[in-house]
Amino acid sequence: MRLDTIPMSTNPTSPSPKRLYLQEVVTRDGFQAESKFIPTADKIALINRLSRAGYAKIEVTSFTSPKAIPMLADAEEVMSKIDRIPGVEYTVLIPNLRGAERALRVGVDEFNLVMSVSETHNQSNLRMSRQDSAKGLSDVIRLAHDAKVAVNVSLSTSFGCPMSGMTPIPELMHWINHFADEGVRGISICDTTGMANPRHVKEVCQLALSKYPKMEWTLHFHNTRGMGLANALAAVETGIDRFDSSLGGLGGCPYAPGATGNICTEELVHMLDLMGYNTNMSLDLLLECSSQLRDLVGRTLPSQLLMAGKVDRLYDKVCQA
Ligand code: COA
Ligand code: ZN
Repeated sequence: MRLDTIPMSTNPTSPSPKRLYLQEVVTRDGFQAESKFIPTADKIALINRLSRAGYAKIEVTSFTSPKAIPMLADAEEVMSKIDRIPGVEYTVLIPNLRGAERALRVGVDEFNLVMSVSETHNQSNLRMSRQDSAKGLSDVIRLAHDAKVAVNVSLSTSFGCPMSGMTPIPELMHWINHFADEGVRGISICDTTGMANPRHVKEVCQLALSKYPKMEWTLHFHNTRGMGLANALAAVETGIDRFDSSLGGLGGCPYAPGATGNICTEELVHMLDLMGYNTNMSLDLLLECSSQLRDLVGRTLPSQLLMAGKVDRLYDKVCQA
């Protein structure tokens, strides 16, 4: 059977109809890496379109210092003006208590706290030690519990750090244990600069799932070394069901040398749908949004799917002249 005759999403060789939860990060991880300011109205319009694509969660913006991330200085306006579609959770990145207080004033569904497993990256990204970050985040967790806001913690450089090398798994587990003890709802294991490989991912996911089976685990991959989708699939095969990804494959931490984009949402959905997983996503809407995003940032996006089209796209026969 020719591959292009297989209808999308109904592949008879489907391993299981398991539901996977997609979380969009383009307007946070994606935009923070862009140099040209994206107008607030365009951010809001993009989030409103994406809200109808089937995501479980959208990371809208970050309440970081506007001096550190000028692109997201309009966090309050974006967060308060977007349409909030029932069934979609709207989360924001929070580095400290000041950010949490700002987010509470506009109302969010979740605080996504951030710190790094690598001391060096924590110092360059958040300008403080891991100990100081953890102490500050304890105060934020207390505030969130009092305000009945869910808490997720994103552990940057969980697999490796571009300045200090591969992250030892026991060091990652130390911070996972710390935040599990603090009673957070979820933890994102983040591969900030694409240093993980599928075998490494399997080992980490199996350990995390077996130790904390009730934790809401998210895997957050960057495609910096071309292993992004392979890593996502390795995580799915261990039972992980939640992934961050970025429309068009934009993304990257400005304080991690060599950082490049997240795994691309439309490519992740395309792969998982073809394999018979239930992503709940509208791939056609994603491709429309990605094409608009290309116009918005004014350059070619990393998304290969946007260039090639889905596998069921057929071209006219090429004839020799
Ligand atoms: N929101 C708005 N302003 C903030 C803030 C927040 N969450 N946290 C600190 N500030 C302001 C302070 O008021 C101060 O302003 P001033 O210079 O006008 O007085 C300034 O930022 C510096 O504050 P300080 O407490 O000294 O923080 P810092 O300069 O050491 O920065 C962070 C610490 C964490 C706020 C900053 O490094 C940051 O926002 N990093 C985010 C990095 C990031 O998002 N990376 C990508 C995601 S992984
Ligand atoms: Zn990231």
